[in-house]
Amino acid sequence: MSDPLWDALARVQDPELRRPITDLGMVESARVDDDGVAHVSVLLTIAGCPLRGTIEADVAEAARTVDGVHSAEVSLDVMTPQQRQELKDSLKQRTVPFMEPNSLTRVIGIASGKGGVGKSSLTANLACSMAAQGLRVGIIDADVHGFSVPGLMGITQAPTRVDEMILPPVAYGVKVISIGMFVESNQPVVWRGPMLHRALEQFLTDVHFGDLDVLLLDLPPGTGDIAISVSQLLPGSELLVVTTPQSAAAEVAERAGAIATTTGQSVVGVVENMSWLELPDGTRMEPFGSGGGELLTQRLSTRLETDVPLLGSIPLEPRLRAGGDAGQPLVLAEESSAAAQEITRIARQLTHRPRGLAGLNLGVNPT
Ligand SMILES: Nc1ncnc2c1ncn2[C@@H]1O[C@H](COP(=O)(O)OP(=O)(O)O)[C@@H](O)[C@H]1O
Ligand SMILES: [Mg+2]
Repeated sequence: MSDPLWDALARVQDPELRRPITDLGMVESARVDDDGVAHVSVLLTIAGCPLRGTIEADVAEAARTVDGVHSAEVSLDVMTPQQRQELKDSLKQRTVPFMEPNSLTRVIGIASGKGGVGKSSLTANLACSMAAQGLRVGIIDADVHGFSVPGLMGITQAPTRVDEMILPPVAYGVKVISIGMFVESNQPVVWRGPMLHRALEQFLTDVHFGDLDVLLLDLPPGTGDIAISVSQLLPGSELLVVTTPQSAAAEVAERAGAIATTTGQSVVGVVENMSWLELPDGTRMEPFGSGGGELLTQRLSTRLETDVPLLGSIPLEPRLRAGGDAGQPLVLAEESSAAAQEITRIARQLTHRPRGLAGLNLGVNPT
């Protein structure tokens, strides 16, 4: 028998788990009394749930949409350890671990030769653009020494822990986890290789991303331990290499991409960032020279013996920087800007390509 109140509650999603609260065993009871008051008792996964206010408001709003209900009383309680275990078991079955060969999640590591080329800004903007296309997207900020993704995405909320499971905060529809969420504010991370490997492994196993279409990893610059760990933990992952137009930058980026020959990963393409600055009179100034993206594309194509495409060239855009500082990615805040449109175009090329065709020429004409 269908219960209109229950049906309405089934449209409420847990903000972190992204599944109907009715499926998650979070609705303990729901009934409408004779005076038209809906009484809903909700079980939270943990007592200190940071999103309890959101859940409470969403439940009340959904209940009030039901015919004959004119007000709602929502009571919040906490799951028992046993209820929590049942929830975790049900989630596990539906999780596609990214490491399995049949995983449908595309994993793309965003790599660069050196820092400051816009790798993190691109990661955040690509993720938001893909989420806006309706894809389920996650980011792992694997730049352990220079984590910046939470700031770029405006995330101040800490991950929620449900026993040993970690629920990543969600911003603009993107699930984000970063080492920055686990360290005291602005303390340096002094971990070495094995600890970094363990941290990454933990992100991949204990963090509940759920089914994702795309997982982006903001990698540290260069060819360090993390790059090797990623290739070991995520053998099916691809690399996207970011460079500036400067030929010296392209040369260091070549090493970051060429690591794919050793790790067996494929390079999905190259993105040139900071390509030009449009002056008020409409002319283009090229503070970092030109040709770096093209050069890197040619070099990687030769080294990897496959066609590595230049997926796009992103202009310098002060609003991109400002959006990053404000935690509002440009592709959402200023979607008509040339930089945002180019990033969106790059995101589409990445998502509109079936997996496993890495290196195929897409017939892309870089501007
Ligand atoms: N296309 C761009 N236009 C203007 N500023 C940019 C652009 N790309 C990156 N930036 C700025 O350059 C700086 C470095 O970018 P970031 O994404 O942190 O690089 P990385 O992760 O490679 O170190 C940031 O201040 C960022 O806002
Ligand atoms: Mg960075």
